Amino acid sequence: MDGFTDWPFRVICRELGSAMSYTEFVNVDEIVHSRHAQDAVRLKLKFSEMERPVAFQIYGHVDERLVETARTLQDWGPDIIDINLGCAIRKIAERGAGAGMLKDPARLGRLFAALSGAVRIPVTAKIRLGWDDRSRNYLEVARALEENGCALIAVHARTKEQALSGPADWSAIAEIKSRARIPILGNGGVHTVADIDAIKRETRCDGVMIGRGAIGHPWIFTRREKESVSLSESVDMARRHLAMMTELYGPRYGCLIFRKHAVRYVHHLVSVGKLRSRLVLCSNVAEYESLFAEAIAIEKSARS
Ligand SMILES: Cc1cc2nc3c(=O)[nH]c(=O)nc-3n(C[C@H](O)[C@H](O)[C@H](O)COP(=O)(O)O)c2cc1C
Repeated sequence: MDGFTDWPFRVICRELGSAMSYTEFVNVDEIVHSRHAQDAVRLKLKFSEMERPVAFQIYGHVDERLVETARTLQDWGPDIIDINLGCAIRKIAERGAGAGMLKDPARLGRLFAALSGAVRIPVTAKIRLGWDDRSRNYLEVARALEENGCALIAVHARTKEQALSGPADWSAIAEIKSRARIPILGNGGVHTVADIDAIKRETRCDGVMIGRGAIGHPWIFTRREKESVSLSESVDMARRHLAMMTELYGPRYGCLIFRKHAVRYVHHLVSVGKLRSRLVLCSNVAEYESLFAEAIAIEKSARS
């Protein structure tokens, strides 16, 4: 997930039992551009050996550039190159990248044939069900991908038009799975351990991809529901996560971009909205520490 699944967060998830890692997606155009852009890409694609298998995810709207980038990036050491065919962000999808590529399954077939010829490691895809309700062409897309060398498909069971809201249609994942010979990962609307069991039962998918359900709750990979994790456990994890982020990005930027994680780690504190709104203003470790201590004190006094 762009903006979330960087190296620190993925390492934490992996330690808690996630089966593999996908990097944040990378725009193929950034790789050929400025030195500054290349440095940002290197940060996004940083990984630890313990994360293997690790997939580098890329997106773009020009087939030749996707192939060229996949060929270049395989030498950076990932186990898999994943092509994003699901991004619904307007400036990406409407330019013909991400979910914009779903509109033409025959072209996707040609792209994957070229990728499998050019790249020696497995190439996989992340798809959606189609552009909108009137064009749910997921069976055609999955067939074109599989017939042209795609090694695995992760299916986000929503259309581009749905973006991230509305019900995920797991029955479509079941349809794809019943026809496919390659592994299929089910994704969309899996927020609890009970959801993991339900999507597996209903779709027979080979694995489950968890997105938003892991933010502030990486314990989902240990099969623990959110309610079973205490505030002090969460705060301990937040401290560690923050330390890894300041190490990777430097103290200033690390603290800044940790804000979106911090508010999710203290989800227990429904009644203290003010503390949450102060968390999103923290700009150094000491400020986080003092708010974490305050959160624990509030919880303690509520219990006594
Ligand atoms: C902030 C955010 C960033 C995302 N970035 C990516 C991305 O880089 N690549 C990708 O394949 N999907 C991305 N997604 C989509 C998720 O992988 C996932 O398909 C979607 O959130 C549905 O799963 P969920 O209901 O478990 O969250 C992103 C989602 C969110 C909320």
